[in-house]
This record gives sequence, C-alpha cells and structure tokens, in this order.
Amino acid sequence: MKILVTGGTGYIGSHTVVELQNRGHEVIIIDNLSNSYSTVVDQIEKITGKRPVFEVFDLTDKAKTAAFFQQNSDLDGIIHFAAYKAVGESVEKPLKYYRNNLESLLNILDGMQEYKIPSLVFSSSCTVYGEPDELPVSEAAPIKPATSPYGNTKQISEEIIRDTAANSSFNAILLRYFNPIGAHESALIGELPIGVPNNLIPYITQTAAGIREQLSVFGDDYDTPDGTAIRDYIHVTDLAKAHIAALERMAHKKSKEKVEAFNVGTGNGYSVLEVIRAFEKSTGEKLNYKIAPRRAGDVEKVWSETTLANNELGWKAEKNIEEMMASAWKWQLALEKK
Ligand code: UD1
Repeated sequence: MKILVTGGTGYIGSHTVVELQNRGHEVIIIDNLSNSYSTVVDQIEKITGKRPVFEVFDLTDKAKTAAFFQQNSDLDGIIHFAAYKAVGESVEKPLKYYRNNLESLLNILDGMQEYKIPSLVFSSSCTVYGEPDELPVSEAAPIKPATSPYGNTKQISEEIIRDTAANSSFNAILLRYFNPIGAHESALIGELPIGVPNNLIPYITQTAAGIREQLSVFGDDYDTPDGTAIRDYIHVTDLAKAHIAALERMAHKKSKEKVEAFNVGTGNGYSVLEVIRAFEKSTGEKLNYKIAPRRAGDVEKVWSETTLANNELGWKAEKNIEEMMASAWKWQLALEKK
C-alpha cells in the first residue's frame, strides 16, 4: 500500500514508518519539523534500507495540502500523527493547539473526500477517558470532559472524523494510546524531548544520565497501593505495529463500523514508584528522586482493557516494563554519544 504518514519524523511516527517499510508498504512522510529533525529520515533509511519520500510543509497550509493530494490522489491510506501534544503549553496557548491540531485534520479530510482515499488511522489518546469510573478502561467507557485544550483537540478530532466518515466513502480507526515509551532496538530513532522533559520516562533517563539533578515524583497520596499515580506504559514499537494492524484491517474490509476506536495499551498498570524500581532493576542505575506535590491535571490511575484490540486487530503488546526501561536507557546512552 501507498501510505501517507503525517508527523512521520516525530517519535511515534518514525517508529511507525519503520514498521510500515518492514512490511513492504510504500511511505510518504509530511512533517513541518516543528518538533523533530530531518535527519530522522536518514536513520529510517539506515534501519530499513529504504528511504521514504519526505516532504516538509505545514498541513495547516490549505493550498499546499490540496496540491499534495492532487499529486498523490492514489494513496491507499493515511496515518495522521502530526499534532502538538504538550498538555501544559496547550493550557497557555489554546488557540495554537486548536488551530494546528484541527485545521490540519480538516485539510486532510478534504483531501480524503475529494480523492476517495479509503482509510484513515488517527492518533487519539486515553486522555479522552479522563479519570475512568471502571478499570481497566474499555472503549465503551464514557468520554469525560477534557482537562486541557490538548485533550479537547483529541476529543473534537474524534467527533470530526465520525461526522465526516458518516457521509464519505472512507473508513477510520481511532487509536487511543496509553503512555508510549522506549525506542527502536537499533537506538537510531527515539524520542527527542526539546528542553526540560514533561514526561516521566525521559525525565528518569536524563536524571540517571546526570542531565537533571533529581526526579520529582508528583504525589504519593493517591488512592493506589503505594500512593503514586498509575499508568499503562507501552513500548513505542508495539504501538507502531498497532497502526499497521489498523490499516490492514481496513484494507481487508474487516471493519465492523465506519469508524472504530481501539485502546492501544498493555493492560498492565504501573505506579511511578514501580516504574522507578523497574528502571533501576533493568539498568543497574540508581535514581535520585524525591516525593513532590501532585501535578495539576493528572489523573490518579488509568490502564487499558485490551480485549477489543487483541481480538479485532489481532494485535498484542509484547514488551514488558523492564524491556521498555532498558530500551529507553539504551536510547539515552546513544543520544549522549551523539
Ligand atoms: C501526558 C498527558 C497525556 C498525553 C501524554 C503525551 C496529562 C494529564 N496527560 O500523559 O494526555 O497524551 O502526556 O505527552 O498531562 N510524573 C512524575 N514526575 C515527572 C513526570 C511525570 O512523577 O517528572 C508522573 C505523572 O504525574 C504521571 C506519570 O508520571 O503520574 C506519567 O506522566 P507523563 O509521562 O507526563 O504522562 P501522562 O501525564 O500520563
């Protein structure tokens, strides 16, 4: 298949391009390089032996996006990653988030409709569930009011896709990611956080590497066994593979509805302290951390019901928490060398 990957030089995008090319699919990347580097394309070529087509422009540019679709009207599918994702920044600059995340989606949907491109995979998030009433959280759980403009762009995007697909020829799959971590086994691609990381795992690896002095564990008074918040961490390569399963489901006409949503997690919840212990065990590094106040906007606990993705997508996460930690550390060490 000929697949457009928007945001294909980003963290999850680049890992997905690798898996697509490994499966023999032809890839075109569009990325504006707002949070990634063009050298990622060289790394993808090193891993797979094949260089994806790469176009640098902003998908909020309606004219450029329309011209791209005119030239590439024979696409078999689109995986749409390109979006801003920093929760805190979205609170400070909501319009930046709404404009970027929604306008790019609208321009892509215009192209899909006009050229009858059959399949869309959209990067959604478990953030749409808010603080779930039942755990593990299933796809049937209610969508809760978003706690940030970032989260709201994911909810609104899901609705825009549903409304558009209802009256168009394309199918869509919404993948609701839990917490992606780790890097490709080659350590040639991985997450490149710019500045001080917001997310737990890059903060852990940078602290162990001596770039940050100390990790703050945000809250130890949650209603969880050790008091720290629980998440479902998933290896980025496992996550990438779910996108291929989703595309192939649509291509083989196995979708049961025009728009389907799947959780993409492992089904296992780990607390912040358990993550720290897994890191220390799998790397032999000692981590300097302290307990700090809760971070505003954090949910207490969330982990995924995976039955639907396992049965319908025929996909299952394979890597365990210690493998994920070892992978994140290997990537941190490779970054240091560069
Ligand atoms: C966050 C977003 C989520 C988004 C994802 C991707 C929120 C509420 N959720 O996920 O919507 O899709 O990022 O960017 O912001 N922690 C520490 N110390 C740190 C960093 C994190 O204790 O220095 C804790 C957090 O409080 C949380 C856990 O580690 O309990 C995971 O945090 P993080 O990696 O930032 O991910 P989420 O907040 O789950």
